[in-house]
Amino acid sequence: MKTINLNNVTVFVVKDYKALSEKGASIIAALLMTKKDAVLGLATGSTPQGVYEELVRMNKSGEITFKGVHTYNLDEYYPIDKSNAQSYDYFMKENLFNHIDIDMANTHIPNGMAENSTKESSSYDQKVRSIGGVDIQLLGIGSNGHIGFNEPGDVFEPMTHRVQLDERTIKDNARFFGSIEEVPTEAITMGIGTIMSAKVLLLLANGEKKATAIKEMLLGKVKPRMQASILQFHKNVIVVVDESAASELIAELKE
Ligand code: F6R
Repeated sequence: MKTINLNNVTVFVVKDYKALSEKGASIIAALLMTKKDAVLGLATGSTPQGVYEELVRMNKSGEITFKGVHTYNLDEYYPIDKSNAQSYDYFMKENLFNHIDIDMANTHIPNGMAENSTKESSSYDQKVRSIGGVDIQLLGIGSNGHIGFNEPGDVFEPMTHRVQLDERTIKDNARFFGSIEEVPTEAITMGIGTIMSAKVLLLLANGEKKATAIKEMLLGKVKPRMQASILQFHKNVIVVVDESAASELIAELKE
């Protein structure tokens, strides 16, 4: 494993997806071992699936418990019903919650069927605030640099909000749906301010498709066209990437 230190960001470059999943899970497990009532910010998508598998394994073997843990997910499609297999609610149950000893009342995901998305968004931020904020926020990154569903744009949206999905996100996520037409065009996502208020940000990325976004996030200008670049302003960021996702970053650092 190679470590790159960039001011506020520690980058671990690991060999492959398995190593990435183990490293990501070990960072979360270390928190759970020292703080029984930890607050986790969680993500969905392909990237964290291996981390969740590893956390399930550690929970089953008794190494960690989720009994006092609270979770807040980054986002949910809108509108979408919880029973839809593509909803992030369904994803979290399938990949994590149904297999660990967490109290389901302590798990939180924006409600994709909320009648009033503005109310849902502000009450979500309120819930995160009232628990005292997130200890570790797990993040993936879109090939367009989005975190949560904060898409490239003209501003960094501070709070949880309803958002129109970017064309590239819809294309990228079509692989989970029967066809591109079935991908929802909107979502409710934590805002950049909500994400940045977490004590530690843990961003994972694997595969060549993420290499440009990783380089620009860490070495590029901080700008809302590359939403993840805001992480340069957070004081405690851990990035775990496999060699393919790190390739452009490493090449640029060598120059
Ligand atoms: C998911 C999320 C997104 C994903 C990103 C990467 O909750 O907020 O930002 O992390 O789209 O997705 P994958 O991991 O599928 O490449």
